[in-house]
Amino acid sequence: MIHVRISMAMTADGKTADEEGEWYPLCQYERERFYRNIEWSDAVVVGADTVLTTNISFLSPSSLKNPLRAVIDPKLKTPIERKVYDTLRGPVLIFSSKEAYNAKRDKIEKLNSKGIEIVTINEKEGYLSTKEILNVLKKRGCEKILVVGGGRTNWFFLKEGLVDEFYITVTPYILGNTKYSPVSGSGFPFPGIKLELLSMEKCPCGEEVILKYKVHNNLQNILDKINE
Ligand SMILES: NC(=O)c1ccc[n+]([C@@H]2O[C@H](COP(=O)([O-])OP(=O)(O)OC[C@H]3O[C@@H](n4cnc5c(N)ncnc54)[C@H](OP(=O)(O)O)[C@@H]3O)[C@@H](O)[C@H]2O)c1
Repeated sequence: MIHVRISMAMTADGKTADEEGEWYPLCQYERERFYRNIEWSDAVVVGADTVLTTNISFLSPSSLKNPLRAVIDPKLKTPIERKVYDTLRGPVLIFSSKEAYNAKRDKIEKLNSKGIEIVTINEKEGYLSTKEILNVLKKRGCEKILVVGGGRTNWFFLKEGLVDEFYITVTPYILGNTKYSPVSGSGFPFPGIKLELLSMEKCPCGEEVILKYKVHNNLQNILDKINE
């Protein structure tokens, strides 16, 4: 059974990056939590814009077994030099649109020669089906899926009712006006989708709060998931 966990951090005013897209964990314990989530997962899923702003491997430095890393990059716009594409440290897959796959043959060749697999997903108005993405991951033996953002990527999974857990760390900062939040996209009508608080912990640093929620998906989505 597929289990999808979103894990993010945000400021006390609900922002996940500054206006330039800059974000990295300042607290050593938050970095360790990030690595533990990665170690828990069979696959780490990240959006193209986070790969553009955040040049990290999305792997834990101490883990012996690395999860599959999957970048959702419909237009194949992320540079091959980003650390997430280091296949020496584990398998990498890109979900792209058929259009970009057909148009960017040179790039596909370079990616393939580096050992990166490209999987095309049906696109509808620029949107790649997250259900289809999960099915591809499931066929590769990945059941524990960690979605690490950003907000648009999280939205695409949430709007399809595919998320089981939502982990959010609240950091002791205020960023003010920026477009980045844990979930963006067109949004749900008030009051949104219901979460159930699983736990609330104070970080050992004494300044951050770790909130873990279960996501209550509607019945139809749960049935769809069972029948997938
Ligand atoms: N605070 C934290 O914990 C944290 C964690 C992660 C990221 N961030 C920050 O979040 C910011 C980026 O967030 P973001 O929301 O702008 O971008 P994002 O979610 O990283 O990437 C969004 C892009 O990914 C592609 N994409 C993802 N899922 C898709 C789907 N199902 N169908 C079609 N396209 C899909 C699209 O690319 P195209 O536009 O090319 O179609 C989309 O615009 C960065 O500044 C990063 O630093 C913060």
